[in-house]
Amino acid sequence: MTSYEYIDHIYDVVVVGAGGAGLRATLGMAEQGLKTACISKVFPTRSHTVAAQGGIAASLSNMGPDHWHWHMYDTVKGSDWLGDTDAMEYLAREAPKAVYELEHYGVPFSRTEKGDIYQRPFGGHTTQFGEGPPVQRTCAAADRTGHAILHTLYGQSLKNNAEFFIEYFATDLIMTEDGQCQGLIAWKLDDGTIHRFNAKLVVLATGGYGRAYFSATSAHTCTGDGGGMVARQNLPLQDMEFVQFHPTGIYGAGCLITEGARGEGGYLTNSEGERFMERYAPTYKDLASRDVVSRCMTMEIRDGRGVGTEKDHIFLHLNHLPPETLAERLPGITESAQIFAGVDLNKDPIPVLPTVHYNMGGIPTNYWGEVLNPTPNDPNKVFPGLMAVGEAGCASVHGANRLGSNSLIDLVVFGRASAIKAGETVDKKIPNKDLNKSSVEYAMDRFDKLRFADGDTSTAELRLNMQKTMQSDAAVFRSDKTLLEGCDRMTKVSDSLNHLKVSDRSLIWNSDLMETLELTNLMPNAMATIFSAEARKESRGAHAQEDYPERNDVDWRKHTLAVIDSTKKTNEPVVLSYRGVGLKPLTESSDGGIDLKKIAPKARVY
Ligand code: FUM
Repeated sequence: MTSYEYIDHIYDVVVVGAGGAGLRATLGMAEQGLKTACISKVFPTRSHTVAAQGGIAASLSNMGPDHWHWHMYDTVKGSDWLGDTDAMEYLAREAPKAVYELEHYGVPFSRTEKGDIYQRPFGGHTTQFGEGPPVQRTCAAADRTGHAILHTLYGQSLKNNAEFFIEYFATDLIMTEDGQCQGLIAWKLDDGTIHRFNAKLVVLATGGYGRAYFSATSAHTCTGDGGGMVARQNLPLQDMEFVQFHPTGIYGAGCLITEGARGEGGYLTNSEGERFMERYAPTYKDLASRDVVSRCMTMEIRDGRGVGTEKDHIFLHLNHLPPETLAERLPGITESAQIFAGVDLNKDPIPVLPTVHYNMGGIPTNYWGEVLNPTPNDPNKVFPGLMAVGEAGCASVHGANRLGSNSLIDLVVFGRASAIKAGETVDKKIPNKDLNKSSVEYAMDRFDKLRFADGDTSTAELRLNMQKTMQSDAAVFRSDKTLLEGCDRMTKVSDSLNHLKVSDRSLIWNSDLMETLELTNLMPNAMATIFSAEARKESRGAHAQEDYPERNDVDWRKHTLAVIDSTKKTNEPVVLSYRGVGLKPLTESSDGGIDLKKIAPKARVY
């Protein structure tokens, strides 16, 4: 192996990723005086949160009556009863506080006439425990809410002396002999230096793995880097079968058209000009939960009622809305529709298609963001020194399906929670332990092997095989046949990692090597997804299994844990086990908590 020189850094906390969750965690840590570094492979304000359009959910009641109990109920129902009760309570209860904090940090929210934060309707958000009309709960900064949040949190983090390592790629975690996380290795992309970060706590805020699929609203940087790092330590990934398709990705380009468009009055039609959602979801129509809308669109297309020459997409109409509404509330998507679909929103409908958008699964954590390594005797066992927040983590607050605008609130609520916990558990006064040399060597050996990989398959070719397989075999609708074939195909694709060829051996701006490292992160995420999906013999949330069309709470109200057997100890490429769904709330109803009878499982209709 090449001998590498290291530049060493010592911190209390190292956060990996500078999206909404990473920045909120970084800010919270730095505010408490913890020596905090944030490492990001892109400039912080270019993180994928910048693409979050529609808004951030919190029961502020600015536009009409709302309550955190109603928000919690909608989240439980949206999750198709797979979310953990404590995490869902924490999210809904803390959301207003977290949004007001953002406001005070300086996020430029849109305003009502009275000067309050403007809130719009979003799918699956209702009043009166699903019995009342849709609620306006999604706080918005026009249709650039994520962009506004990122800029504010980055500025505040700098003000609080957090240190940023920008365009550094975190390659692997460093573990102590006795199995604690104690830091990571990072490669500085612009000068090729290798850095060892020693930390009392590492927080993974690396986002989702949308790019395991061919068509995704996710940025090309969404390569599941945290999940990859965790999987290589033989730690589990949770509920990976639940992949969200956003109903309105622009046909062909895949870019997001916010659900806020339907929140502002937009609607979908088929080739007969019919507003078909009225048939499927008579109460909430186009504002049903997004897994439901995506399935209905797919069924319309399958039944021959798609639009366009190939009858393979659907129209989203906004051309009936006043031009002032489009200009004030939806300026970003007006531009995107023009650039990516050649459509003037004032005149014509946008061609749209359900597109991969979000991963409900991820690294299992509790609601403080502490990573779990469950055992049969202790399903909530914490793995020391490691946290995961945002889309990289699975708290599990979204269960089998996430509601729109519950993602941004997840980022800030759980980013903030991780900082609160770190304030209690990280001791600034004690010195960091020396790094475990064999763990460093193991990580660098992997890096070096990939750098000099000399097989016969390019990274781009292998990545495309993976993306096409996932797109066709783990789609909106799945069946035993597609999933079994998919497991088989993905195993072969994953085995081909041994035949990779990297052509550029340099260390400076080597995008070939970086994309290869990213591919080695995408692959375990994709494998966990398809194997977990194949095993789950029911339909729940985003997992629509055509051979098992009903939800089966008796056998399947449980989380999937998937461990990638990289050491080939077993004959299974992915080893699956299960842990129960958390049913205990944080607050008893006698103390102001939700009445548990309200969130008991029932049929999920909109
Ligand atoms: O539709 C959107 O604006 C996306 C929001 C979300 O995924 O939460």
